[in-house]
Amino acid sequence: MSRWPLLFVAIAALGAGSCAKLTLAWADLKPDGPAARPEVLGAFGPQAPVASLEDWTSLRRPALKEALQANIYGYFPDSYKLTVLDRKLLDENAFGGGRLEEYKLRAQLRFGETTSETETFYMDVVTPNGVPNAPVILIQTFCPRWDTLPHPAVYRPEDAGGCGGGPATGVMTYVFGRYIATPPTQMILARGYGVATIYPSEFAPDRKDEGLAALKQMSKGLASDKQRWGAIAAWAWGYSLMVDALEEGADGPRDYISWGHSRYGKSALLAAAFDDRISAVISHQSGTGGASLNQQKKGESVKAIIDGYPHWFAKAYENYAGEEETMPIDQHQLLALIAPRPVLLGNARRDVWSDPNGAFRAAVGAGPVYKLYGAQGLDQDRLDVWAPAADIAYWIRPGTHGVVKEDWPAFLEFLDAHFLKK
Ligand code: GCU
Repeated sequence: MSRWPLLFVAIAALGAGSCAKLTLAWADLKPDGPAARPEVLGAFGPQAPVASLEDWTSLRRPALKEALQANIYGYFPDSYKLTVLDRKLLDENAFGGGRLEEYKLRAQLRFGETTSETETFYMDVVTPNGVPNAPVILIQTFCPRWDTLPHPAVYRPEDAGGCGGGPATGVMTYVFGRYIATPPTQMILARGYGVATIYPSEFAPDRKDEGLAALKQMSKGLASDKQRWGAIAAWAWGYSLMVDALEEGADGPRDYISWGHSRYGKSALLAAAFDDRISAVISHQSGTGGASLNQQKKGESVKAIIDGYPHWFAKAYENYAGEEETMPIDQHQLLALIAPRPVLLGNARRDVWSDPNGAFRAAVGAGPVYKLYGAQGLDQDRLDVWAPAADIAYWIRPGTHGVVKEDWPAFLEFLDAHFLKK
């Protein structure tokens, strides 16, 4: 009984926007709209155009990171330290062939002279047996840990809420697809990849008041003239915490892939832009504040996202509501910060709220930076070409917002194309 209200809250939260805007419109399959501005290697503020890779890495990358924090996401901590409070083996042979472990974590962060601490949170990790140093897919989702990685040994309270389980999960899956709450862990392990999951609401709640309170608490030493970070940035930092925990006691180098759908798709991109230890990104339907350009956009406007989710971004982003054309920076520059690492941008033709066209134009706009590294970014001139081996792979399928049956096989094809060849 008590689960039903939660279910409706979950659907409202997930679907505000996307579900309510299940319009009959279809994204066009030919790119439509002007090129991304400013040109990624052109002049930027007081900076001259980028003339070399050295210019890009030593001058332009830091300037873009600063501008993204100042205008959109708010500031990451000046420094931080993760503590692994406990690490426990839960099952040596879980999900048809993986080693399942639980990490109990807490982080200390420093802004200026002030240190604060996160709440304690958990990470569950399952790595394929017999595949030493398998690449690990870092996953954050809408659902508490017991729904993301359901296993008898993963703690589940008696009155488990969140994504619910039972009929609630059934309805959610019906609306948002088979894999919305739970990835196909067995399939992923069988393909030779590990999975690490956290529920980032444990330290930065995805709720307006509670979220803002936690974000303020975590950034209390921030200088008053700087923008406080929003939840999208805090969750992006969460991906770095996952890497820190996995690196502690690792047997050798391995690849980490940040994976996220929708709001976590935004964070998964930001995480890789700021943390070079992340080798690749799968960002599915990330939309506004993710891969889709702010300027000349269709779908969710800056005003809509700020009104709906005031805890996601820095206050400064509000200044561009209705004034998107005045933005000094746009999302192709976020993608460019990830170059030359592979990125998959997932889309659906009826998910016009996430603006598949804007994501395509952002990918085109990031291209010159991939070329600067001798890599090939997006390598197509239509939206419906599936080229998993491209460094920017663009996936579009029929249907709406969600993680459906055909999405994970495509994600794994992209990973195989980039990681099996090594
Ligand atoms: C809403 C929001 C989007 C977001 C999505 C999600 O639709 O408007 O920006 O990506 O929720 O996270 O599912």
